[in-house]
Amino acid sequence: MGASEFEDHSWEAFCEATASRGPLEYFHSAMEYVNGNVGAGRLAIDVGSGGGADARDLLSRGWRVFALDAEPASRRFLEERTPQSVRERLEIATGSFHTIALPPADLVYAQFSLPFAGDDFDAAVTNVLASVVPGGGFVGQFFGANDDWASDPHVASVDRRWIEQTFSDFSELEIDERDHDGPYGADSVNKHWHFFHIRARR
Ligand SMILES: C[S@@+](CC[C@H](N)C(=O)[O-])C[C@H]1O[C@@H](n2cnc3c(N)ncnc32)[C@H](O)[C@@H]1O
Repeated sequence: MGASEFEDHSWEAFCEATASRGPLEYFHSAMEYVNGNVGAGRLAIDVGSGGGADARDLLSRGWRVFALDAEPASRRFLEERTPQSVRERLEIATGSFHTIALPPADLVYAQFSLPFAGDDFDAAVTNVLASVVPGGGFVGQFFGANDDWASDPHVASVDRRWIEQTFSDFSELEIDERDHDGPYGADSVNKHWHFFHIRARR
């Protein structure tokens, strides 16, 4: 997977492959951070919602969800799997991270998505972080320089200094750096991972 796949429209294949997966550890980390297992009508933005698994998990926990992805097929996978009973709490937007108008949100969840904005990365981060309300949380990941995908010119990578500056107007910032080999994708291809798992509160 790389941004080049996005450009040749193969994010659709990614969405299909992940539409039925369960929540990953990062999602549980987010739920812990914002006491998210009881959404209580709060609004979460799923930034780069892909196959829609996390958006549906948020809905099942009582959140209102604004799911955003540039890949048109993302909407279809999410709509197909969302029970009618919770549909009124879901808004789906097809658009780009850096240009779309976002609602004020109690949680902004960006699971391995923002780095794929490529050249629009800075504008994407600015636009997305602006939607976090005071007291609200951001949870997401940013690639570091050692990641195998960091050499792809369409994938943005960052360092700790960038993170600290970017979140300087947040009241809390947790940086969990991972730097290890590990599997990726349905075929469990080995790659080197280097990313920062971020939890921040405005
Ligand atoms: C690696 S996938 C992650 C999807 C999902 N968050 C997950 O963890 O399964 C990245 C997603 O970001 C979307 N995406 C990439 N660049 C985007 C952009 N500039 N604006 C909006 N969506 C974008 C892709 O279509 C894809 O669904």
